[in-house]
Amino acid sequence: MTEDRRLAVIGLGYVGLPLAISFVEAGLEVEGVDAHSGRVAELSAGRSPIDDIPDSRLTGAIAAGMRVVGTDAAHLADADVIFVCVPTPIDQAKDPDLGPVLSAAELIRRHLRKGQLVILQSTTFPGTTTGPFRKVLEQSGFIAGRDFDLAFAPERVNPGDPASAAKDVPRLVGATTPEATIRAATLLRRINNSVIELSSPDAAELAKLLENIFRNVNIALVNQLALLCERMGLDVWEVIGAAATKPFGFMRFTPGPGVGGHCIPVDPYYLAWRAREFDFVDRFVELAGDINYAMPRHVVDLVAEGLNDRGKALKGARVGVLGVAFKPDVRDARNAPAAAILAGLAARGADVSYHDPHVPRFRDTDGAARDSIEIEGLLRRSDAVVVVTPHKAIDWEHVYATAGLVIDTVDSSHGRTTTERQVLRLGAGWTVRA
Ligand SMILES: NC(=O)c1ccc[n+]([C@@H]2O[C@H](COP(=O)([O-])OP(=O)(O)OC[C@H]3O[C@@H](n4cnc5c(N)ncnc54)[C@H](O)[C@@H]3O)[C@@H](O)[C@H]2O)c1
Repeated sequence: MTEDRRLAVIGLGYVGLPLAISFVEAGLEVEGVDAHSGRVAELSAGRSPIDDIPDSRLTGAIAAGMRVVGTDAAHLADADVIFVCVPTPIDQAKDPDLGPVLSAAELIRRHLRKGQLVILQSTTFPGTTTGPFRKVLEQSGFIAGRDFDLAFAPERVNPGDPASAAKDVPRLVGATTPEATIRAATLLRRINNSVIELSSPDAAELAKLLENIFRNVNIALVNQLALLCERMGLDVWEVIGAAATKPFGFMRFTPGPGVGGHCIPVDPYYLAWRAREFDFVDRFVELAGDINYAMPRHVVDLVAEGLNDRGKALKGARVGVLGVAFKPDVRDARNAPAAAILAGLAARGADVSYHDPHVPRFRDTDGAARDSIEIEGLLRRSDAVVVVTPHKAIDWEHVYATAGLVIDTVDSSHGRTTTERQVLRLGAGWTVRA
């Protein structure tokens, strides 16, 4: 087997860019391809749009020969291996939108040559690689497994968590032939210490979905427990902390204002949709999705409850949201629950503003765009402050020393001093802390 040395990576986002740079750092030749001209321009200028990739790593890779080009200028026929790392969103009806994956396949089809290996890395339902993706590629006249190799290798990176990008995090891969699986695994071992070979692309696709569905279901479980604790007058955070002292058989998940990002709120629907094609309703997946999607609405109700305690209506009240990114310490605000919270508050007549040190401009689910205002102004103007994303860059000591009414959805008041009926916590109710 000749060694694969020239790679192309299609889609240079959270997944594709680190992959491309890792291969350059491992001494391989890489062409990065992206459909978005703005992305190509910023990367070519050495500006990384991704928190976990400092500009110096990007410029180092460019200096070492990494090319960054638009789809029109791609030289895919020169590559031994082509990776596809484009988005896999859902549409309005929460059905999979394979548009980007299939347009990447179409781009490859135009350049495909014998002997190449194509690896799909976007998260998707089982049967994508060997079904619609393969179908487009085979319109070239070449057959997968005979003329070219075809594999699926999911990504496990967790933005904002450097440990998730470590070489020791095992990678999965499954291809349409055993030889192709070995070929893809050999290449991935250039950048990963542990690569696990599976029997098929479908198994690798489903394993990736299981990982994210596992999170979604467990988050839904504690979110529902949070609602029950509010009714029972118990503190869900105390309950979870207590359960987590068990050293085996329990894994800690915490409730919150809802799930966000590219994966957890999206990927389960890929399986639910595919299951229906087999006349099967994946009830766990759909129930967990429903519970998590309802959390922003519950947060809006908590704000109304907090204001009511002050004799104020939500209508006309000034409400400030702290943090809109989908998780702490990142600028990624895709599918963030803050979008539904801001829209829900505004729809009920509140005058809303937000502060997020990482997200300067943010659009809610009704399409209204707002700019982040400085925190002092937000604390001064707000009748109620809602903590959605507990970024470390926010001075929480100051927030709790200043704000008269805080709706705390993430237990950010833990370890702070709070006063009587100052803090209404999701999953726990009014809480005073000395
Ligand atoms: N972000 C994560 O943490 C993460 C983790 C694991 C898996 N994934 C999966 O990886 C895939 C990519 O996610 P991401 O977060 O990197 O997305 P992203 O939006 O950060 O990046 C995707 C890039 O692909 C480009 N693109 C879109 N369509 C294209 C096309 N047809 N041709 C060429 N370029 C195109 C976009 O311009 C963008 O730069 C998704 O399937 C996602 O579910 C993401």
